[in-house]
Amino acid sequence: MDDPARRAALDTLRAVRADDAYANLVLPKLLRERRVTGRDAALATELAYGTARALGLIDEILAACVDRPLTKVEPVLLDALRLGAYQLLRTRIPAHAAVASTVDLVRHDLGPRVTGFANAVLRKVSELDEAGWLDRVAPDPAEDPLGSLAIRTAHPRWIARAFADALGSTGDELAAALRADDDRPAVHLTARPGEVSADELAAMTGGDVAPYSPYGVRLEAGAGDPGDIEAIRERLAHVQDEGSQLCALALTRPEVDGTDSRWLDLCAGPGGKAALLGALAATDGGTLDAIEQAPHRARLVEQSTAGLPVTVHVADGRDPDLPGGYDRVLVDAPCTGLGALRRRPEARWRRRPEDVGDLTRLQRELLTSALSLVRPGGVVAYVVCSPHLPETEGVVADVVRKTGVTLLDAREAFPGVPDLGEGPYVQLWPHRHGTDAMFCALLRR
Ligand SMILES: C[S@@+](CC[C@H](N)C(=O)[O-])C[C@H]1O[C@@H](n2cnc3c(N)ncnc32)[C@H](O)[C@@H]1O
Repeated sequence: MDDPARRAALDTLRAVRADDAYANLVLPKLLRERRVTGRDAALATELAYGTARALGLIDEILAACVDRPLTKVEPVLLDALRLGAYQLLRTRIPAHAAVASTVDLVRHDLGPRVTGFANAVLRKVSELDEAGWLDRVAPDPAEDPLGSLAIRTAHPRWIARAFADALGSTGDELAAALRADDDRPAVHLTARPGEVSADELAAMTGGDVAPYSPYGVRLEAGAGDPGDIEAIRERLAHVQDEGSQLCALALTRPEVDGTDSRWLDLCAGPGGKAALLGALAATDGGTLDAIEQAPHRARLVEQSTAGLPVTVHVADGRDPDLPGGYDRVLVDAPCTGLGALRRRPEARWRRRPEDVGDLTRLQRELLTSALSLVRPGGVVAYVVCSPHLPETEGVVADVVRKTGVTLLDAREAFPGVPDLGEGPYVQLWPHRHGTDAMFCALLRR
C-alpha cells in the first residue's frame, strides 16, 4: 500500500483521538519524518485538518449510516470511516477513490474482517452530498436556527450558543463568526519597539502593515514557515496575532498619575505579550516582572524576552510572593481558547462545557490577585482569548462587584479599531477584525 498522504492523515487523526494530541503538531512532524512533501503533504494536511474540524458533523452522518451506536465501532475503524466520509462530503476526490483508498487503509490496519463493513458504510455516505445529508440530519432552521447553524458550520451546539450570546445574534453574523473558524489565519508579526518599525518590517518581509496595531505586520496567507523569516531570527520581530498585540498595548494606554515604570505580567507563558511589553518598558526605562506557573513555559518567556528588562518568575499568579505596588498588571488568563479555534482543528470538539467552571474560578482568583498587586491608581488589563461570556464579562463583573474597583471604557485603549460595540469591554472577532476573538477589560484600582 503506498498512499503516504492518507496514511499520514489517518495516523494524525488517531493520535488526536487516542493521545489527545494536537493535529497541527503531530502532522508536520509525521510529514517531516516520512519525507512526505509537495502534493502529498498538501493532501494530508487538507484531509487531517478538515476531518478534525468537521468531526461532529461527520459523526452525525456516519451515525445515520451505521446500524449500531458509533461508540460500538472500533475506534481505529471509526478514524478511517471519518477520513473516508470527509473525502466524500467535502473534497472533490471521486467517490470510488475515496471509498477504495479508505478500505485499503482498513485492510492494512485491521485485516480483511471489517473491509466489507467499511465499504458498505462509505457507499451509504456517498449516496448524498453534504447539503443532502444536512437536510436529513440538521434541525429545521425555522424551528432551531442555532442548532441548524451549529451543525451546518460543524460546531458543537454549546460553542455556537456561546458565540451567539456574545454577539447577540443567531443570524448572519453568527454564521460569519462560526465560518471564520474554518479559515486559515494569516501570520501576524510584531515589530519589536525600539528595533524596527512596522513599515520597515513590512518591507523586509513582503507583508502589509497591519490595520490597527502600530507594531503589526500581516503576512499573506500561506507565506511559508515564519521560522525562515530573517527578521524573526534576528529578534527584530516575533509571531503574534494582531489581537494579542492590541490587548497588550491596551494595558499601556490609560493615563496613570505618578510613576509608570514597574509592570507585571501575571500569566506570561510563552511570552508573546511579555516580549512586546518588555520592549515598550525598555524604551522608557521601565521593567517588567513576568510570572508563569509552568517551568517549561517560563523558559519560553526567558527566551522570548532575552535582552529586555524582564525578570521571569516561576510562581502561581494567585500568590506570587512579590512585593506588589505595580503601576500596570496584565492578566492574560488561561481560558477555553474558543477565540482561537482557527488555530487548532480539533479544539472545538475537545473542549467541554464542563471545563468552564474550573477556568472561571481560576480567572477570578488571578484577576483578584492582580488587583492586590497593582498600586492605587494603577491599571489592570484582564484578557482572554475567548468570547464566552462566563469567562469574559462574567468574571470581570463579579470581581468588580466584590472589590469595588473602577471599570474603564476599554474601547478608548483600542484607537482606530472599528466595530467595538457598546463598551466598556472590548471583544475582537476574526470575522470583524481578522484577529483572534480576544477579550479585554481595563480596571483601575
Ligand atoms: C493565555 S496563556 C498566556 C499567554 C501569554 N500572555 C502570551 O502572550 O504569550 C496563560 C498562561 O498562564 C499560565 N498559568 C496557568 N495557571 C497559572 C497560574 N495560576 N499562575 C500563573 N500562570 C498560570 C499557563 O501555563 C499559560 O502559560
